[in-house]
Amino acid sequence: MEQDKDLMEKIVSLCKRRGFIYPGSEIYGGMAGMYDFGPYGVELVNNIKASWWKENVQKNQNYFGLDSAMFKEPKVWEASGHIGGFSDPLSECRKCNTRIRVDKELERIGVSADEKMSEDDINKLFEENKSKIKCPKCGSSDFSPAKAFNLLVKSNMGDFTGEGKNPAYLPGEACQGIYLNFKNIVDTTRAKVPFGVAQIGKAFRNEISPRNFIFRTRELEQADTQYFVKPNENKDAYEKIKQNRFNWYVKMGIKPENLRFKQHENLVFYASDAWDIEYNFPWGFDEIEGIHDRTDYDLTQHMKYSGTNLEYTDPQTGEKYIPWILETSAGVGRMFLAFVSDAYTVDTLGGEERVVLKLSKQLAPIKAAIFPLLRNKPELVSKAREVYEMLREDLRVEWDDNGNIGKRYRRQDEIGTPYCIVVDFDTLGEEKPELKDTVTVRDRDTGTQERVKVSELVSFLKERLS
Ligand code: GAP
Repeated sequence: MEQDKDLMEKIVSLCKRRGFIYPGSEIYGGMAGMYDFGPYGVELVNNIKASWWKENVQKNQNYFGLDSAMFKEPKVWEASGHIGGFSDPLSECRKCNTRIRVDKELERIGVSADEKMSEDDINKLFEENKSKIKCPKCGSSDFSPAKAFNLLVKSNMGDFTGEGKNPAYLPGEACQGIYLNFKNIVDTTRAKVPFGVAQIGKAFRNEISPRNFIFRTRELEQADTQYFVKPNENKDAYEKIKQNRFNWYVKMGIKPENLRFKQHENLVFYASDAWDIEYNFPWGFDEIEGIHDRTDYDLTQHMKYSGTNLEYTDPQTGEKYIPWILETSAGVGRMFLAFVSDAYTVDTLGGEERVVLKLSKQLAPIKAAIFPLLRNKPELVSKAREVYEMLREDLRVEWDDNGNIGKRYRRQDEIGTPYCIVVDFDTLGEEKPELKDTVTVRDRDTGTQERVKVSELVSFLKERLS
């Protein structure tokens, strides 16, 4: 993608102006790291999740879906390692108390660092480079040493003492529910290793510095798959899973040159290998999805902390083992931002410059918009209403009778609507009886128009939208 230094600003502005994303609690001045999906945003999110689900559950052999409760017995987060090791390095400006995330500030000045480094290692780098890091608020370079700051968010769910001694945590990652239900799924379905479980769920992280719009937020949604394999039978499956996930982004319209794999240099506590799929966001390549080889860490830990035997018995051989897990975990918000960034296009059509979201047709929030040519001609309006009522039985469509047709096209282009349907005088068949009950269908990307019979509209659109 051609890098446009104002691209991010343009995308944020379009998302707000056209009802995709609003700042959370905006009328109260907002809340850091929180965003609300508006009317078109929620349609796009739902379409991304539906396509992801279709690919990973419906079309994937031997995959099962799950929706586990967000709150979990607090010991789950001890077993998972989040209470002990899920932290980012935090430092405070000694002049104005602004908090910074040290690994990200180091990265910003070109020093390779990440949150998985030990406190000592990161402080060594921090000391060497402190003079080049400026407080984002007051510009000072006088910072406290970096300290590991735990990202789990606590709640008082079920704690009526008010003392917070045994807090229930909000999920730090969505996937834990899958591990807790491994045995249930084996016992109640015909799942045989290797098999996968998919879940889309919320996670919460006390991010020190939420940034880049919905890229790093404190409330997020993750679309996860966990594939249970026999110990040491991980390598081929891992490669296949990595490739499938990459291919899905391309299938859903992302330009392959804007995607790449990146292997982790420092591994998180649970992983033996980890790769990210990165997208070329307006600020450069950054992670959309993590693909982790988690070995037997998760089931072993939960077995130890819960006292429940989570070994799998091979039904053919009777062999017992703890399966290894291959994970894919993608942020729904990051997928959203990648799809919108990739689709954002400024081009010229009919001699006029326009902004158009060239989203894949499956992801587009609105599939078709229906316009009566003129809003003050009752016969056109009533025929267009008929068409609209018919289409909305099958498709997410929109009515628009406001302004000239050119303006209506521009409005739909900006939200990525693949087809605009105009009901005009020919539809009424007064002068040209051969065109009676036909409408003009205009294609978003090419601007070409064709005449389609109203009776064939549903199949015409469905064929092109699938
Ligand atoms: N269960 C594995 C796991 O949680 P992760 O790499 O921490 O791994 C997976 O997160 C994905 O979740 C990331 O690739 C990213 O898309 C998304 N994600 C993580 N933290 C995020 C945040 N603060 N805001 C938005 N998305 C986030």
